[in-house]
Amino acid sequence: MSVNEEQFRSALGRFAVGVTVVTTRSADGGDHGMTVSAFCSLSLQPPLILVCIDKTASIYDIITTAPNFAVNVLSMSQEPVARRFSVVDIDRFEGVGFSRGRGEIPVIDDAVTVLECRRTASYDGGDHTIIIGEVEEARWNDSGRPLLYYRGGYAHLER
Ligand SMILES: Cc1cc2nc3c(=O)[nH]c(=O)nc-3n(C[C@H](O)[C@H](O)[C@H](O)COP(=O)(O)O)c2cc1C
Repeated sequence: MSVNEEQFRSALGRFAVGVTVVTTRSADGGDHGMTVSAFCSLSLQPPLILVCIDKTASIYDIITTAPNFAVNVLSMSQEPVARRFSVVDIDRFEGVGFSRGRGEIPVIDDAVTVLECRRTASYDGGDHTIIIGEVEEARWNDSGRPLLYYRGGYAHLER
């Protein structure tokens, strides 16, 4: 016997997480991105991270095949960006400042941390796919404070 969806959501919702936008570029030159909280550090040597992508996500085919992607860790002032990159059927980049990183991938302005990654492996993870990236470039902003997600809502650090 296993827990049901509601129990799973309630239990896991009590684990406070940071919020990222994973960005990439398709072979036809289109910019793509989605809000992702299922992100974590995986290995120091080599430097690996992982993100988990829903198999039904609109950019699933792009993000699971693109050679490169970036993880943009959002600051607490970027809640509108987190909301925008989780909305279906809009141009998510409209009105959002960004520059170009390796492979012309969009890198979101004012993120707390940006990790530019080369996709090295993908693994099945139930209704998600686990994507492993080797971090080729890392930048961070010491004055930025992170945006959090906790119990179904956005939150800020109090320290
Ligand atoms: C705070 C937050 C965190 C999210 N984390 C993930 C995640 O880790 N993985 C994922 O596949 N989708 C995640 N999503 C959902 C996607 O951002 C997006 O809403 C979903 O893919 C629906 O849009 P789409 O069908 O156009 O992709 C998250 C959404 C929010 C608001």
